[in-house]
Formats: sequence, structure tokens, C-alpha cells
Amino acid sequence: MTANYPMLRLRRTRAHSWSRSLHREVLVTPADLIWPLFVTGGSGIEDPIASLPGVSRWSVDGIVKRAKDAVAAGIPALALFPNTQPERRSEDGAEALNPDNLMCRAIKAIKDACGDDIGVLTDVALDPYTSHGQDGLIDEAGYVLNDATVDVLVGQSLNQAAAGADIIAPSDMMDGRITAIREALEGHGHVNVQIMSYAAKYASAFYGPFRDAVGSSGLLKGNKKTYQMDPGNAEEALREVELDLAEGSDSIMVKPGLPYLDIAVRVKQTFQVPVFAYQVSGEYAMIEAAVAAGAGDRDGLVLETLLAFKRAGCSGVLSYHAFHAARLLGA
Ligand code: PBG
Repeated sequence: MTANYPMLRLRRTRAHSWSRSLHREVLVTPADLIWPLFVTGGSGIEDPIASLPGVSRWSVDGIVKRAKDAVAAGIPALALFPNTQPERRSEDGAEALNPDNLMCRAIKAIKDACGDDIGVLTDVALDPYTSHGQDGLIDEAGYVLNDATVDVLVGQSLNQAAAGADIIAPSDMMDGRITAIREALEGHGHVNVQIMSYAAKYASAFYGPFRDAVGSSGLLKGNKKTYQMDPGNAEEALREVELDLAEGSDSIMVKPGLPYLDIAVRVKQTFQVPVFAYQVSGEYAMIEAAVAAGAGDRDGLVLETLLAFKRAGCSGVLSYHAFHAARLLGA
């Protein structure tokens, strides 16, 4: 570029709204959003989550209504998480394999009501089903066992796929699970069921409200640092992503979202594959706390953070604000 001030004035293109629209490099649309929803038992139930103001657990009938709302708002996919009753939790998380568990009932009900109008993404990890709140099976010392856990995750994935899940999203961070899950899906005829791997998932302080939502916060002893990534590591994230791609993952998730935007950028630039980011529960709660404190405007904060993910190169964002944002953006 050779022109200099005053021939060149970068403010020229910013002077009018029409011109700002014309020059805008990235946009957020409802089609960029995945809406996470929490499922609970019973019927006709809306159970607000205290640490996630504005987010509730819904019984399956309510989940179907939210799915229809999402379709009407132009949201292409939902992510489901179950709040499993304490009596259905166990040391080995066997409820994850029950074809009639809350997840499977919610998947079937959404697919019956909405068919192909919306995609259903399902989380694969054992924490909503274990009595200890860890994502896998543990030994006497409480260490999460890798290979034994992968066997159960394969069963969990097949269970979800049989119920109609469209995208299997392993969030457990065990080694080798993508190959195992992909082979099992292929072997059972689920050739078009996708895998979106939570490839770079950090042992983060931002998951607190989620653990309340699925009912595992009171159960979890210790932390998840022996399997989730160290927040200080970026190169290791690229290795995780490379492996999951080699194992057959269709797309990649980075989690949490805004605090790890550098990871999303590096993954996109290094691999040129579809990258998604999860704006997690603690990030949602921070925005809502700022709004409640009068420190910011919800609509502005939400849309600006979502735009940041698109600017970073993400194909889409999982956000608890997805429905609110979709309505702001118009279908
Ligand atoms: C569980 C899982 C977690 C989240 C998604 N799947 C929590 C955890 O790893 O402890 C967090 C999502 C959020 O905070 O919104 N495997």
C-alpha cells in the first residue's frame, strides 16, 4: 500500500452505516449457532439453574418445544446434556448405555417432531452418569482409566446414534476414542453420523455452572487435570487436533471459547478444517453477571462475543445465548 494520509483515510469507509455494512468482513447469522440444552425427567417441567440465570432444565416435552423454537429462529443444531437422577448414577456410569435414558428419549422426541429440520449433537462422556462426577471409569486411587473408559464411550456413542443423534461429540479427552467410535459407527451402519471431537478441551475454571446444571458438581472430588488439557499449552492442542483428525473426526471443537480464541485461530490456520468453539457456562454467567451489575448491555456483549468467534475463523459457536442471539439477528 502506497497512499498516505490525507489521501488515505481509513475513517472514510466508516463514516456511514451503509458503508460499514458493505465493508464488514465477517457476519454472525443464526446458522452459525448451536444451542446447548439441559434435559431433566418428568413432564411439564422447567427447572431454572441458579448459576445460569435465564437457562433451565426442561423435561422432554419442553425440549421438543425448544427444538421447534430453534427451527423457527434458524438455528441448525442443538447440543443435549442430561441431568440424570442421583439414583440412576453409578460408579460405572451404566445409565449412559441405557437405550431408554433421558438423552435417548430427548433425541427421539426431537427427531420425531422436527426430523431433518434440526441436527442433534450429543455429548459423549460419563460425567452425567457417574456417582463420582468424573468423565470416565476410575481405579481405587480415583485415577480415570483410559482404555476401559473408551470401551464404554463406544457403547454410549452407539446408543446415542441408534436413538437418532446426528453428531457425536466426545468431550471426555481419552486417548484413542475417535478411532474406536468411528469404527463402531461404521460397523453399525451409521456412516453419516458425524463426529465433532472436543479435541482441545482444557481443564478450565469456566465449567462450574454446567456441573450444577447436570448435577455433578456436588459429586466431583478433585479435578479433571489428568485428562483435560493444561491451560498453559497451545502446541499440545495442535497435536490433539492432528490426532483426532487422523482418527476420523469430521470437525473440531475448542473449549472454552473466548479465553482460548488463540487456539481456535491456530487450529484453523494449521489444519483448514471446520472448527467450532464452545462459549461455556462460565462465560455465559460472566456476561449475565455484567448485565445484572449494570456493567454492560446484554445484546451488545452477546453479539460482539459471537462475532469474535467468526472473526477467529470458527464455523460456528455453541452458546447458551444462541436462541437470544438468533432472535436478535432474525431468521
Ligand atoms: C463434560 C462436559 C463439560 C462441559 C461440556 N461437557 C464439563 C466438564 O468437562 O467438566 C462444560 C460445558 C460448559 O461449561 O458449558 N464432559
